Amino acid sequence: MFSGKVVLITGASSGIGAATAINFASKGALLALTGRNASNLQKVAQQCEEKSNIKPLTIIGDLTIDSDVRNILDTTIKTYEKLDILINNAGILATGSIEDTTVEQYDEIFATNVRPVYLLTNLAVPHLIKTKGNIVNVSSLAGLRAFPTVLTYCMSKAALDQFTRCVSLALAPKQVRVNSVNPGIITSDIHVRSGITEEEYPEYIRRMASIHPLGRVGQPEEVADAIVFLASDNASFTTGETLCLAGGRQNCCPR
Ligand SMILES: NC(=O)c1ccc[n+]([C@@H]2O[C@H](COP(=O)([O-])OP(=O)(O)OC[C@H]3O[C@@H](n4cnc5c(N)ncnc54)[C@H](OP(=O)(O)O)[C@@H]3O)[C@@H](O)[C@H]2O)c1
Repeated sequence: MFSGKVVLITGASSGIGAATAINFASKGALLALTGRNASNLQKVAQQCEEKSNIKPLTIIGDLTIDSDVRNILDTTIKTYEKLDILINNAGILATGSIEDTTVEQYDEIFATNVRPVYLLTNLAVPHLIKTKGNIVNVSSLAGLRAFPTVLTYCMSKAALDQFTRCVSLALAPKQVRVNSVNPGIITSDIHVRSGITEEEYPEYIRRMASIHPLGRVGQPEEVADAIVFLASDNASFTTGETLCLAGGRQNCCPR
Protein backbone atom coordinates (compact mmCIF):
# COMPACT_ATOMS: atom_id res chain seq x y z
CA MET A 1 0.00 0.00 0.00
CA PHE A 2 2.91 2.39 0.78
CA SER A 3 5.53 0.72 -1.37
CA GLY A 4 8.10 3.33 -2.45
CA LYS A 5 6.56 6.01 -0.18
CA VAL A 6 8.92 7.83 2.18
CA VAL A 7 7.41 8.33 5.65
CA LEU A 8 9.09 10.47 8.34
CA ILE A 9 7.83 9.79 11.89
CA THR A 10 8.84 11.81 14.97
CA GLY A 11 8.67 10.15 18.38
CA ALA A 12 9.12 6.77 16.69
CA SER A 13 11.06 5.34 19.63
CA SER A 14 8.01 4.75 21.86
CA GLY A 15 4.24 4.28 22.14
CA ILE A 16 2.06 5.58 19.31
CA GLY A 17 5.03 6.54 17.10
CA ALA A 18 6.57 3.07 17.40
CA ALA A 19 3.25 1.36 16.59
CA THR A 20 2.81 3.68 13.61
CA ALA A 21 6.30 2.88 12.31
CA ILE A 22 5.63 -0.87 12.53
CA ASN A 23 2.26 -0.47 10.78
CA PHE A 24 3.78 1.54 7.89
CA ALA A 25 6.63 -1.00 7.65
CA SER A 26 4.12 -3.84 7.29
CA LYS A 27 2.71 -1.97 4.27
CA GLY A 28 6.07 -1.55 2.56
CA ALA A 29 6.95 2.10 3.37
CA LEU A 30 10.48 3.51 3.35
CA LEU A 31 10.87 4.86 6.86
CA ALA A 32 12.79 7.71 8.48
CA LEU A 33 12.40 7.24 12.24
CA THR A 34 13.47 9.78 14.80
CA GLY A 35 13.62 10.06 18.58
CA ARG A 36 16.11 10.77 21.37
CA ASN A 37 16.53 7.32 22.91
CA ALA A 38 18.93 5.52 20.53
CA SER A 39 18.45 2.04 21.94
CA ASN A 40 14.64 2.22 21.87
CA LEU A 41 14.73 3.67 18.34
CA GLN A 42 16.98 0.83 17.23
CA LYS A 43 14.59 -1.75 18.73
CA VAL A 44 11.66 -0.23 16.81
CA ALA A 45 13.74 -0.11 13.59
CA GLN A 46 14.51 -3.81 14.07
CA GLN A 47 10.79 -4.64 14.46
CA CYS A 48 10.08 -2.65 11.27
CA GLU A 49 12.78 -4.49 9.36
CA GLU A 50 11.30 -7.82 10.47
CA LYS A 51 7.98 -6.75 8.87
CA SER A 52 9.31 -5.45 5.56
CA ASN A 53 12.89 -6.61 5.04
CA ILE A 54 13.70 -2.93 4.54
CA LYS A 55 16.06 -1.25 7.01
CA PRO A 56 14.64 2.09 8.22
CA LEU A 57 16.75 5.21 8.42
CA THR A 58 17.12 6.21 12.09
CA ILE A 59 18.02 9.76 13.12
CA ILE A 60 18.71 10.68 16.74
CA GLY A 61 17.58 14.19 17.59
CA ASP A 62 16.03 16.45 20.19
CA LEU A 63 13.16 18.34 18.62
CA THR A 64 13.60 21.27 21.01
CA ILE A 65 16.92 21.99 19.24
CA ASP A 66 16.37 23.70 15.87
CA SER A 67 19.59 22.31 14.34
CA ASP A 68 18.42 18.77 15.21
CA VAL A 69 15.09 19.40 13.50
CA ARG A 70 16.91 20.66 10.38
CA ASN A 71 19.20 17.62 10.48
CA ILE A 72 16.21 15.25 10.68
CA LEU A 73 14.70 16.68 7.50
CA ASP A 74 18.02 17.08 5.67
CA THR A 75 19.13 13.51 6.41
CA THR A 76 15.77 12.14 5.27
CA ILE A 77 15.96 14.00 1.96
CA LYS A 78 19.64 13.18 1.44
CA THR A 79 18.88 9.48 1.96
CA TYR A 80 15.63 9.07 0.05
CA GLU A 81 15.64 12.18 -2.21
CA LYS A 82 11.96 12.85 -1.46
CA LEU A 83 9.30 12.90 1.26
CA ASP A 84 5.73 11.60 0.86
CA ILE A 85 4.33 11.57 4.40
CA LEU A 86 5.19 13.48 7.59
CA ILE A 87 3.88 12.19 10.92
CA ASN A 88 4.31 14.84 13.64
CA ASN A 89 3.86 12.53 16.62
CA ALA A 90 6.44 13.36 19.33
CA GLY A 91 5.01 15.02 22.40
CA ILE A 92 5.12 15.33 26.16
CA LEU A 93 2.41 15.66 28.82
CA ALA A 94 2.35 17.76 31.97
CA THR A 95 -0.46 18.39 34.44
CA GLY A 96 -1.67 21.28 36.57
CA SER A 97 -4.21 24.10 36.42
CA ILE A 98 -3.75 27.86 36.16
CA GLU A 99 -3.21 27.89 39.94
CA ASP A 100 -0.37 25.37 40.06
CA THR A 101 1.52 25.49 36.75
CA THR A 102 4.43 27.75 35.88
CA VAL A 103 5.55 29.62 32.81
CA GLU A 104 8.53 27.23 32.72
CA GLN A 105 6.12 24.31 32.22
CA TYR A 106 4.28 26.29 29.55
CA ASP A 107 7.58 26.93 27.71
CA GLU A 108 8.68 23.30 27.92
CA ILE A 109 5.35 21.99 26.64
CA PHE A 110 5.19 24.42 23.73
CA ALA A 111 8.90 23.88 22.91
CA THR A 112 8.17 20.17 22.36
CA ASN A 113 4.52 19.94 21.28
CA VAL A 114 4.21 23.02 19.06
CA ARG A 115 7.43 24.77 17.98
CA PRO A 116 9.15 21.77 16.31
CA VAL A 117 5.92 20.82 14.55
CA TYR A 118 5.90 24.29 13.00
CA LEU A 119 9.61 24.16 12.06
CA LEU A 120 9.70 20.59 10.73
CA THR A 121 6.51 21.12 8.71
CA ASN A 122 7.83 24.43 7.40
CA LEU A 123 10.96 22.64 6.15
CA ALA A 124 9.05 19.61 4.83
CA VAL A 125 6.33 21.41 2.87
CA PRO A 126 8.35 22.10 -0.33
CA HIS A 127 9.11 18.39 -0.53
CA LEU A 128 5.51 17.37 0.20
CA ILE A 129 4.26 19.69 -2.54
CA LYS A 130 6.53 17.92 -5.04
CA THR A 131 5.12 14.49 -4.11
CA LYS A 132 1.52 15.68 -3.45
CA GLY A 133 2.08 14.07 -0.08
CA ASN A 134 0.36 14.52 3.24
CA ILE A 135 0.80 15.24 6.95
CA VAL A 136 -0.76 13.60 10.01
CA ASN A 137 -0.37 15.44 13.32
CA VAL A 138 -0.80 13.53 16.57
CA SER A 139 -2.90 15.80 18.74
CA SER A 140 -5.19 14.78 21.59
CA LEU A 141 -8.77 14.94 22.80
CA ALA A 142 -7.21 17.64 25.00
CA GLY A 143 -6.95 19.84 21.90
CA LEU A 144 -10.70 19.76 21.37
CA ARG A 145 -12.04 19.56 24.94
CA ALA A 146 -11.15 21.48 28.11
CA PHE A 147 -9.50 19.68 31.01
CA PRO A 148 -8.76 22.27 33.72
CA THR A 149 -5.92 20.32 35.34
CA VAL A 150 -4.06 19.68 32.07
CA LEU A 151 -3.83 23.35 31.10
CA THR A 152 -0.58 23.79 29.18
CA TYR A 153 -0.94 20.46 27.37
CA CYS A 154 -4.53 21.34 26.35
CA MET A 155 -3.31 24.71 25.06
CA SER A 156 -0.50 23.07 23.06
CA LYS A 157 -2.81 20.55 21.43
CA ALA A 158 -5.41 23.23 20.66
CA ALA A 159 -2.64 25.16 18.90
CA LEU A 160 -1.74 22.01 16.98
CA ASP A 161 -5.36 21.50 15.89
CA GLN A 162 -5.59 25.06 14.61
CA PHE A 163 -2.25 24.47 12.85
CA THR A 164 -3.81 21.41 11.16
CA ARG A 165 -6.82 23.41 10.00
CA CYS A 166 -4.87 26.47 8.77
CA VAL A 167 -2.15 24.49 7.01
CA SER A 168 -4.70 22.15 5.42
CA LEU A 169 -6.40 25.13 3.77
CA ALA A 170 -3.08 26.66 2.66
CA LEU A 171 -1.90 23.42 1.05
CA ALA A 172 -5.19 22.08 -0.34
CA PRO A 173 -4.71 23.85 -3.72
CA LYS A 174 -1.35 22.07 -3.94
CA GLN A 175 -2.99 18.69 -3.28
CA VAL A 176 -1.22 18.22 0.08
CA ARG A 177 -3.61 16.91 2.74
CA VAL A 178 -3.16 17.71 6.44
CA ASN A 179 -5.06 15.84 9.15
CA SER A 180 -4.84 15.08 12.83
CA VAL A 181 -5.71 12.25 15.18
CA ASN A 182 -7.03 13.20 18.63
CA PRO A 183 -6.71 10.23 20.97
CA GLY A 184 -8.22 9.82 24.41
CA ILE A 185 -6.16 7.87 26.94
CA ILE A 186 -3.85 5.39 25.24
CA THR A 187 -1.48 3.05 27.11
CA SER A 188 2.10 4.27 26.61
CA ASP A 189 5.00 5.66 28.62
CA ILE A 190 3.64 9.23 28.47
CA HIS A 191 1.73 9.14 31.77
CA VAL A 192 4.56 7.77 33.88
CA ARG A 193 6.90 10.23 32.17
CA SER A 194 4.59 13.06 33.22
CA GLY A 195 4.76 12.17 36.90
CA ILE A 196 2.33 9.30 37.62
CA THR A 197 4.31 6.62 39.48
CA GLU A 198 4.57 3.02 38.25
CA GLU A 199 2.55 2.04 41.37
CA GLU A 200 -0.24 4.53 40.60
CA TYR A 201 -0.40 3.65 36.89
CA PRO A 202 -2.69 0.54 37.01
CA GLU A 203 -5.26 2.40 39.15
CA TYR A 204 -4.99 5.44 36.83
CA ILE A 205 -5.69 3.24 33.80
CA ARG A 206 -8.67 1.61 35.60
CA ARG A 207 -10.09 5.04 36.41
CA MET A 208 -9.52 6.29 32.86
CA ALA A 209 -11.14 3.16 31.41
CA SER A 210 -14.31 3.96 33.35
CA ILE A 211 -14.63 7.44 31.80
CA HIS A 212 -14.36 6.24 28.20
CA PRO A 213 -17.83 5.00 27.10
CA LEU A 214 -16.32 1.90 25.45
CA GLY A 215 -15.19 0.97 28.98
CA ARG A 216 -11.47 0.80 28.33
CA VAL A 217 -8.49 2.91 27.30
CA GLY A 218 -7.01 2.67 23.79
CA GLN A 219 -3.91 0.94 22.46
CA PRO A 220 -1.13 2.56 20.40
CA GLU A 221 -1.92 0.16 17.53
CA GLU A 222 -5.48 1.53 17.31
CA VAL A 223 -4.13 5.06 16.89
CA ALA A 224 -1.57 3.80 14.37
CA ASP A 225 -4.38 2.29 12.26
CA ALA A 226 -6.10 5.69 12.08
CA ILE A 227 -2.87 7.53 11.28
CA VAL A 228 -2.11 5.09 8.47
CA PHE A 229 -5.68 5.44 7.16
CA LEU A 230 -5.43 9.26 7.07
CA ALA A 231 -2.04 9.03 5.33
CA SER A 232 -3.37 6.61 2.72
CA ASP A 233 -5.27 7.14 -0.53
CA ASN A 234 -8.32 5.72 1.29
CA ALA A 235 -8.57 9.20 2.86
CA SER A 236 -7.97 11.01 -0.44
CA PHE A 237 -10.86 13.49 0.05
CA THR A 238 -10.15 14.15 3.74
CA THR A 239 -8.17 17.19 4.83
CA GLY A 240 -8.25 19.51 7.85
CA GLU A 241 -9.88 16.74 9.92
CA THR A 242 -9.30 16.24 13.66
CA LEU A 243 -10.27 12.60 14.17
CA CYS A 244 -11.17 11.57 17.73
CA LEU A 245 -10.00 8.13 18.87
CA ALA A 246 -11.40 8.30 22.35
CA GLY A 247 -13.89 5.47 22.76
CA GLY A 248 -16.79 7.96 22.68
CA ARG A 249 -15.39 10.21 25.41
CA GLN A 250 -15.47 13.19 23.04
CA ASN A 251 -19.29 13.24 23.33
CA CYS A 252 -19.46 13.07 27.13
CA CYS A 253 -20.71 15.93 29.20
CA PRO A 254 -20.79 15.67 33.02
CA ARG A 255 -24.31 15.56 34.52
N1 LIG B 1 -0.80 8.15 25.33
C1 LIG B 1 -1.87 8.94 25.40
O1 LIG B 1 -2.76 8.78 26.26
C2 LIG B 1 -2.02 10.07 24.41
C3 LIG B 1 -3.29 10.65 24.27
C4 LIG B 1 -3.46 11.68 23.37
C5 LIG B 1 -2.40 12.12 22.61
N2 LIG B 1 -1.17 11.55 22.77
C6 LIG B 1 -0.06 12.09 21.96
O2 LIG B 1 0.57 11.03 21.26
C7 LIG B 1 1.91 11.41 20.96
C8 LIG B 1 2.82 10.24 21.30
O3 LIG B 1 2.74 9.99 22.68
P1 LIG B 1 2.87 8.54 23.34
O4 LIG B 1 1.66 8.33 24.14
O5 LIG B 1 3.26 7.54 22.33
O6 LIG B 1 4.05 8.85 24.38
P2 LIG B 1 5.48 8.23 24.65
O7 LIG B 1 5.40 6.74 24.66
O8 LIG B 1 5.99 8.93 25.86
O9 LIG B 1 6.32 8.67 23.37
C9 LIG B 1 6.68 10.01 23.16
C10 LIG B 1 7.66 10.09 22.00
O10 LIG B 1 8.00 11.48 21.79
C11 LIG B 1 9.40 11.59 21.75
N3 LIG B 1 9.84 12.89 22.26
C12 LIG B 1 9.40 13.54 23.37
N4 LIG B 1 10.09 14.69 23.52
C13 LIG B 1 10.98 14.76 22.49
C14 LIG B 1 11.98 15.69 22.12
N5 LIG B 1 12.23 16.81 22.82
N6 LIG B 1 12.71 15.43 21.01
C15 LIG B 1 12.51 14.31 20.29
N7 LIG B 1 11.57 13.39 20.60
C16 LIG B 1 10.83 13.61 21.70
C17 LIG B 1 9.92 10.46 22.63
O11 LIG B 1 11.26 10.19 22.26
P3 LIG B 1 12.33 9.47 23.26
O12 LIG B 1 11.57 8.44 24.05
O13 LIG B 1 13.30 8.85 22.29
O14 LIG B 1 12.90 10.55 24.10
C18 LIG B 1 8.95 9.34 22.28
O15 LIG B 1 9.37 8.68 21.10
C19 LIG B 1 2.19 12.68 21.76
O16 LIG B 1 2.13 13.80 20.92
C20 LIG B 1 1.04 12.72 22.77
O17 LIG B 1 0.73 14.02 23.18
C21 LIG B 1 -0.96 10.53 23.64
